[in-house]
Amino acid sequence: MNAAPRPLTLLALSGSLRRASFNTALLRAAADLCPAGVRLELRTLHGVPVYDGDLEAEQGTPAPVLDLREAIRAADGLLIATPEYNNSIPGVLKNGLDWVSRPPAEGKKAFFGKPTAVLGATPGGFGTVQSQDALLSVLRTLQVEMWFGGRLMVSRANTLFDAEGRLTDAALQGQLRDFLAGFSAQIRRGDRDE
Ligand code: FNR
Repeated sequence: MNAAPRPLTLLALSGSLRRASFNTALLRAAADLCPAGVRLELRTLHGVPVYDGDLEAEQGTPAPVLDLREAIRAADGLLIATPEYNNSIPGVLKNGLDWVSRPPAEGKKAFFGKPTAVLGATPGGFGTVQSQDALLSVLRTLQVEMWFGGRLMVSRANTLFDAEGRLTDAALQGQLRDFLAGFSAQIRRGDRDE
């Protein structure tokens, strides 16, 4: 009989700071829909200052960035939920990824080869398709290991969550469960290939 697979941790990063963020709510829902043996750790980018090379040179990497970088490094996979602002990723998310990528040798420890999946939610009709695509070019530069086995573009998000931000739509619950199962299975396949 096969031994039980090792537990996995997914670092789930929301690209929104909003308390009532649909993207953060989507990741909160994801925490309850992960397959057995997979734990999701939710992070936001609160407390991360605007990147400034002078600040970096004079004070080093800010503590919230060090903390996030270590959490990504330690995780088995990175799951990013991105809003779409003007057909691209929010500055907050780009800023956070830029900070974590600095200095390059440290950024590499977090991102290089990290299994990564992207999803996103919007009240609009196009499901963050453009911001997800824009995020790919950043993630390519960071040399993550992208998972393309599923896509989750959540349109009309304002109709899918209740006033407390709980995901109430059964169809989306199923899609999210499948997405998480597919991503987790890919990480486990990577384990076997090593
Ligand atoms: C938006 N929004 C938006 N939505 C979209 O689908 N495509 C877009 O290009 C934009 N552009 C845009 C620009 C700016 C500056 C803002 C503030 C918003 C709407 C956006 O999807 C909505 O505010 C979401 O609720 C943001 O995600 P969170 O905060 O709910 O996770």
